[in-house]
Amino acid sequence: MESALVQEAKELSINIRGMSKTTMKYQIKKKKLGKSPSNKLYNKTGKLGFDGKEGKVYEVIHRNKTYAKKQFKKTKSAKNIEKEVQFQRLASKFGLSPKVKEYNLEDKYIIMEKLEVNLFDILRKKEGKLSKKQQDEIIDIFERLDKHYIFHKDPNPLNFMYDKNKKLNIIDFGFAEMIEEDSKVKNPNMEYMVLGLLIKLQTLFPGIQYNHLYKKLNKEQKEILS
Ligand SMILES: Nc1ncnc2c1ncn2[C@@H]1O[C@H](COP(=O)(O)OP(=O)(O)O)[C@@H](O)[C@H]1O
Ligand SMILES: [Mg+2]
Repeated sequence: MESALVQEAKELSINIRGMSKTTMKYQIKKKKLGKSPSNKLYNKTGKLGFDGKEGKVYEVIHRNKTYAKKQFKKTKSAKNIEKEVQFQRLASKFGLSPKVKEYNLEDKYIIMEKLEVNLFDILRKKEGKLSKKQQDEIIDIFERLDKHYIFHKDPNPLNFMYDKNKKLNIIDFGFAEMIEEDSKVKNPNMEYMVLGLLIKLQTLFPGIQYNHLYKKLNKEQKEILS
């Protein structure tokens, strides 16, 4: 097994041959902070989504390619941005989330693959209705997050988006946590996020049924919802 450090260095295309751990750490830091293209290289062409509490998301163009740029407020801690990136990188490896192109902890932004349609916009157009297929896609994402030990922790239709291949992605790892090996709940995404999402959907679109999601609840959870 290669260490997380080596893995990260490779991801950043650092030639690690013969490099000590300390040098590797230094090179990683340098690459992340200093060497990533300056903010100015990404031309803003529009805004994506609503402004969040912690930042804004823009459409940007770099070398004729379009990306999404999540720009955090200056007060957001670099450590938390880094954590968010690590979880998104992991989830994107399994095809659950947009790929992170790069990030900058000094200028506090993440450049990532741009997705197309927010689930919330689809819901609004369909008066809150979700097809069986759409509900199954959400469940599939939760199950796969559980499988890979990522607890997302922010169940909100705004955090689901379709990509250009019409595949559903989950975004926004701002609250994400690792599912520890000794954790009592092994599948927290399925155990809590389904209920969380249904509560959110119920407030947004009262009266609409989401049977396939609802089926995944346990007895007590079903009582909470009714
Ligand atoms: N990769 C992306 N492609 C297109 N739009 C995005 C992307 N990432 C985020 N957005 C839009 O920006 C909104 C806010 O992004 P999000 O990461 O959820 O930030 P916040 O932490 O503020 O909730 C999303 O709801 C979505 O509409
Ligand atoms: Mg969000």
